[in-house]
Amino acid sequence: MAEELHIQGTTKQEKYESLYLQLQALVSGEPDRIANMANIASALREVFGFFWVGFYRVSGDQLVLGPFQGPVACTRISFGKGVCGTAWKEGRTLLIPDVDQFPGHIACNSLSRSEVVVPVRSGDEVIGVLDVDSDRLDAFDEVDARYLEQICDLLS
Ligand code: SME
Repeated sequence: MAEELHIQGTTKQEKYESLYLQLQALVSGEPDRIANMANIASALREVFGFFWVGFYRVSGDQLVLGPFQGPVACTRISFGKGVCGTAWKEGRTLLIPDVDQFPGHIACNSLSRSEVVVPVRSGDEVIGVLDVDSDRLDAFDEVDARYLEQICDLLS
């Protein structure tokens, strides 16, 4: 496919649907996971204008910053720390409507107000997380969570 997105639809769900199919085409056949993470981060930012969107990859007992779009961010997050480290530890998606209410939230950027973090798996193992941040409170819902999970499955 041409390396250009053509997003159809008006609702968030329709846009995710359209994006998912194009990401599937874009990453299928490309075995390099970092390259695929880079395109996914770019596409999510382009389509939804998220404040910060990117990946952290598991390295030993830490998450290390991977491909992302947005302001500079923390480089390393320990297992179980912050929203990202907790999503990794618990192996589940975390929807955080107000980051100030999450004990231990790591404020890489003071403008970040809400976020969703999705584990990235290879088989049963969590190999990283996708972190999406908004500068608005309560910016994410179950629709975001479910589609971002599907998108992360493209990296397994
Ligand atoms: N908010 C995250 C830290 C990563 S940055 O926001 C990019 C957390 O608490 O895990």
